[in-house]
Amino acid sequence: MRRWLQQKIISPLIDLSYILMSLLFAAGVPRWYERLNAWHYCYQAEHYDRSVIEFEGARYAQALEAGLQALSVHPREILDVNTGTGFVARKLLALFPQAHIVATDLSEAMLAQARLRSPRIEFIRADTAKLPFADESFDLVTLHNGPPHLLEMARVLRPGGQMLLAFTSGARVPHLLLKRWLEIARRFGTVELGRVGDGLWVLVTKFSQTTPGA
Ligand SMILES: C[S@@+](CC[C@H](N)C(=O)[O-])C[C@H]1O[C@@H](n2cnc3c(N)ncnc32)[C@H](O)[C@@H]1O
Repeated sequence: MRRWLQQKIISPLIDLSYILMSLLFAAGVPRWYERLNAWHYCYQAEHYDRSVIEFEGARYAQALEAGLQALSVHPREILDVNTGTGFVARKLLALFPQAHIVATDLSEAMLAQARLRSPRIEFIRADTAKLPFADESFDLVTLHNGPPHLLEMARVLRPGGQMLLAFTSGARVPHLLLKRWLEIARRFGTVELGRVGDGLWVLVTKFSQTTPGA
């Protein structure tokens, strides 16, 4: 029953809220959201991997894995936003051991767990809607299960670089909302999209400077 509730109701509602939040808070998250997020993950951080990632099993990352296989960049500089306990950042380190990986999150409690697990990755506290990096700093930007602030993520991506977004239950997000959100992505890049079970991945390749519409 708990698994059914998590997979059919809670997880899709959370993914829906991510897309809504990215549309509502495009210029940065309000202070109340920061406080709520800090409070929520303060309680979750220590057991997040066990109670969410392990509990969900293979389903948790099936869309992410499919999206990673679709990548065509050979990144030297990688940014994983909303990294949480560093789940995706560690996968990226295994895939691209030579790359420099930076991972960001709003929650200090989640970052503390991430630092314990992966000393080779640089973890920084930052709001994805206001990233503390120069334009075009990264070859690859990833986000798994968090509000996707597309324009800010695109700002720090170099031309020709790729942005991978994946959501455990993203395929259940209403089509109209997804369409609106994908329109934003199409302003700065070409978009590929895949569904795996309930999961959704979106790969955006940023236009190079010479491409019209960039
Ligand atoms: C569901 S967890 C996912 C963590 C990780 N990406 C994973 O797949 O395991 C969502 C994370 O997003 C972070 N987060 C939420 N809003 C954020 C924002 N505006 N900027 C940065 N991080 C944010 C939370 O603190 C939390 O760690």
